[in-house]
Amino acid sequence: MRELPIVKALSAVENATVLDPLVATVQAVVDAALQPRALRDLLHGVPAGHPLHPVLVLVPTGSWISAAVLDAMPGQEVAARRLVAVGLLAVTPSALAGFADWAATHEQQKRVGLVHSAANLVATGLYGASYVQRLRGRQTSAKLLGWAGLGAVGLGGFIGGHLAYRQAVGANHAEELPHLVGPGWHPVAPIDDVPEGRLTQYEVDGERVTAFRRGDGVDVLSDVCSHLSAPLSQGEVTTEGGEACITCPWHDSVFSLRTGEVVHGPATSPQPVFETRVVDGVLEARLPHAG
Ligand code: FES
Repeated sequence: MRELPIVKALSAVENATVLDPLVATVQAVVDAALQPRALRDLLHGVPAGHPLHPVLVLVPTGSWISAAVLDAMPGQEVAARRLVAVGLLAVTPSALAGFADWAATHEQQKRVGLVHSAANLVATGLYGASYVQRLRGRQTSAKLLGWAGLGAVGLGGFIGGHLAYRQAVGANHAEELPHLVGPGWHPVAPIDDVPEGRLTQYEVDGERVTAFRRGDGVDVLSDVCSHLSAPLSQGEVTTEGGEACITCPWHDSVFSLRTGEVVHGPATSPQPVFETRVVDGVLEARLPHAG
């Protein structure tokens, strides 16, 4: 089946380097504004274990869709105006969460994300104008502006779908590991060859893992970062709250080495952790629930 023209256009936007100066400007503003890191973690959805932005956008989108339905009915002006206002109030937290996620993406995703936010900005402007017209009692223009805003919201939502499903922003990039690794124990390397205190990349049943040896114990995690697939073996070992952690080399997500839990975003999904043992001088690893 042929792709829709809009999807082709978005594929072109992915590589539209003409957007890069604007991307750099917005990036600088977002990086300066979204401080401290605890705020960014909250906006990413780290405490929830899922991205927060898709949840927050339900409020303005749902309010405005409902307002559009009421606008098609007689005598619903007050309720429609209130719903438009609710949507306008909900835009800010939704946009902040979106920009927090956007700031930690690849170039292609940032270009499309910029167009996504532009469509939503147009929608917000149209709904703002619609609300003013409602206050003035000019119902016809208010409704027309609202319906135009809904069109822009729909376009923004479509582009958001492209970001999430075509470009995999917000998805767990380590999800497939249990389906790729066979069940049971797999050899990793002779234990004497595993260096102490240094991240080292190995393969377990054909899948990349990173190992970190501390004395007799070895932590083995998937080497593919759950955020956007960076090789964690090229990251750094750090300490957070007294716990040894691994920091991703691309967007600085921090995971517990022992449990794989997310300590800091942008990742929201934990890093798969293998169980380990040493048999006849060989380090072996097993992924719980694999196969
Ligand atoms: S790939 Fe983005 S934090 Fe790891």
